[in-house]
Amino acid sequence: MNVSNSKQQLFDRWAPFYDFWVPSLLYQATHRRLLEYVELPEAPNVLDISCGTGRLLNRLAAAYPRLQGTGLDFSAAMLRQARCANHHRPRLIFVQGQAAPLRFTDQQFDAVFNTFSFLHYLEPQRVLTEMYRILRPGGTFYWVDPTTDTSTGVGYVPVSPHGIRVYSPEMRQQMGTQAGFRHVKHRYLLGKNLLSIFVKV
Ligand SMILES: C[S@@+](CC[C@H](N)C(=O)[O-])C[C@H]1O[C@@H](n2cnc3c(N)ncnc32)[C@H](O)[C@@H]1O
Repeated sequence: MNVSNSKQQLFDRWAPFYDFWVPSLLYQATHRRLLEYVELPEAPNVLDISCGTGRLLNRLAAAYPRLQGTGLDFSAAMLRQARCANHHRPRLIFVQGQAAPLRFTDQQFDAVFNTFSFLHYLEPQRVLTEMYRILRPGGTFYWVDPTTDTSTGVGYVPVSPHGIRVYSPEMRQQMGTQAGFRHVKHRYLLGKNLLSIFVKV
């Protein structure tokens, strides 16, 4: 079994309990704080990569009545939960796919969201390049994950198949810039959960 499959299976098993697991409650509190920093056009088309059970998109759709949103995730079981809890049909849809390559055309979205997921990616720079491709010029990327202050800029935590990688603020900035983004700001949302905002130039 390859690494992506074993990670996928982990999330498939986790999905039915995900929303009731204590860290998820902290994730939802962090989503609430994230909304304070989100700026979107009138009728935005947004993508949540690795959307899980779709909580963030539902919150965004409630705040922006003309928002169209797509949630993408590789876990069929997470998507099942997201579709059952979709309070904004047909404005929100949930589709299965990998974070890289992304199954979308160039410049399709006004904003891309990624919360508590980037740390799982095995090819992070490839994901950033794909995010850049599918955003329109001037579009925004909102990245939320725990951060680290290790001197190397990357903290490896040996949990889940092939572990997770958390990035320092400086490392995030460097990686985003390498993909072509302009870095706008970093803001701590809750504890070590850092929001990094990038714009496609
Ligand atoms: C901790 S959950 C976060 C879910 C949601 N974004 C949130 O804030 O609650 C991580 C999600 O990333 C998804 N994921 C991990 N690696 C992925 C990949 N390579 N492609 C697509 N989805 C992935 C998992 O299936 C899972 O739903």
